[in-house]
Amino acid sequence: MRILSGIQPSGSLHLGNYFGMMKKMIEYQENEDLFCFIANYHAMTSVTDGKALARGTLEAAANFLALGMDPERSTFWVQSDVPEVQELTWALSNFTPMGLLERCHSYKDKVAKGIAANHGLFAYPVLMTADILLFQSDRVPVGKDQKQHVEVARDIALKFNNQYGEIFTLPEAEIDDDVATVPGIDGQKMSKSYGNTIDLFQEEKALRKQIMRIVTDSTPVEDPKNPDQCNVFQIYRLFLDKDRQQALRRRYEAGGMGYGEVKQELFETVRDFFAPFAERRRELLADPDGLRAVLARGAEKARDAGAPTLRKVRKKTGLAY
Ligand code: TYM
Repeated sequence: MRILSGIQPSGSLHLGNYFGMMKKMIEYQENEDLFCFIANYHAMTSVTDGKALARGTLEAAANFLALGMDPERSTFWVQSDVPEVQELTWALSNFTPMGLLERCHSYKDKVAKGIAANHGLFAYPVLMTADILLFQSDRVPVGKDQKQHVEVARDIALKFNNQYGEIFTLPEAEIDDDVATVPGIDGQKMSKSYGNTIDLFQEEKALRKQIMRIVTDSTPVEDPKNPDQCNVFQIYRLFLDKDRQQALRRRYEAGGMGYGEVKQELFETVRDFFAPFAERRRELLADPDGLRAVLARGAEKARDAGAPTLRKVRKKTGLAY
């Protein structure tokens, strides 16, 4: 089965990205045909500082590699190194009703927040569709916030196939309930744009500060507490197997445990969990040319994989004459 997903290189990597998508992708490498990329074209909708985008792209690549992406076994590349995706975007645009894009929550939310709407932001889901369809992806592991975009990809693929024959595989989003929406420190969806993230790779002091800022209620230390309504628990549980979740649950319900105590434990858990990856990440970033070489090989593999699809599209649409 072909599994594909991508991540934008805009800003630092947080627990929502890790648990919502990256962890699963890295695990999938064992048995599946994994395609994974850094969506730097998409990041242009929010990053307009060229140096920041370039640096962010290398950092995002280093993040994924440090966390266990294996570029030999999988196909791992930077989106803009496979510009064919733009050609496919154009072809697909002609099968994308305006209404389909106008209904996209992500677009509507951004506009509602006051971000000036431009064509890039509006057409974002079409580019995402091209990412998915160029490689005939079966499954797309994402967080819940991207579900609608994968449905858009399916709709566009259907329309295109209806016109030109069975060219594209119809993709399906894959979303695990327990990590569909990882909450941030205020209980809303963890997201850079809400300023409520816990970041994977940062100084200990800053990490501790983020975790201590997790919003809790004012139940006194000695009283029993409800883990299901506690943001600390909702984040902590991501690191725990079922038994350890149960044990923590019991400590909440027994009373006598303060939020400060559990936050300190969470801090140590997050720190220790990512420390070995941080070391590897530093090494990777110390050799940007090595990193670029890995990405260049990945792009070559991706271009080869996408070529037959694009050839078919060119032939069927008449672009090849
Ligand atoms: P991006 O870069 O915003 O996020 C990367 C992945 O992290 C997931 N995610 C979360 N999951 C659970 N809880 C959260 N709080 C949380 N925050 C983020 C996102 O759902 C996503 O899976 N448009 C995509 C990138 C992209 C893409 C694609 C993905 C471009 N082309 C093709 C799949 C297929 C995006 O902006 O992800």
